[in-house]
Amino acid sequence: MASIAFDQVELTYPGSTTAAVKDLGLEIEDGEFMVPVGPAGCGKSTSLRMLAGPEEATNGRILIGAEDVTRRAPEDRDIAMLFQNYALYPHMRVADHMAFSLRMAGVQKDASGERLRP
Ligand SMILES: Nc1ncnc2c1ncn2[C@@H]1O[C@H](COP(=O)(O)OP(=O)(O)O)[C@@H](O)[C@H]1O
Ligand SMILES: [Mg+2]
Repeated sequence: MASIAFDQVELTYPGSTTAAVKDLGLEIEDGEFMVPVGPAGCGKSTSLRMLAGPEEATNGRILIGAEDVTRRAPEDRDIAMLFQNYALYPHMRVADHMAFSLRMAGVQKDASGERLRP
């Protein structure tokens, strides 16, 4: 794991006149458990998508550990994201979903079980 930092991060979606996320400054320590909470539309998913990579920040910087990943491709960030709906396999348990990306990365089954243990 690694620390995460949002430094004055902003995203305005194309065609929009208002920022979906504005001046987000947040530091999360290595190993810290953090849950963003807020009303629908306040920018939680947009912030997570900027961290994982599918959405690119308009302004500001995002750091994973000491690395500035703001403009880095999602597959080069070594980070996984589970979506809350529509992208889950109904026959799998939560642990199976988390193990899926490890399996795709070629991690052996026993090793992936070890990595998933809290
Ligand atoms: N793909 C998109 N294109 C344009 N606007 C979007 C898009 N996704 C989200 N938004 C807008 O950005 C704002 C933040 O949305 P979102 O990050 O999904 O909020 P939350 O996850 O907190 O409910 C909302 O005003 C939403 O309508
Ligand atoms: Mg959301």
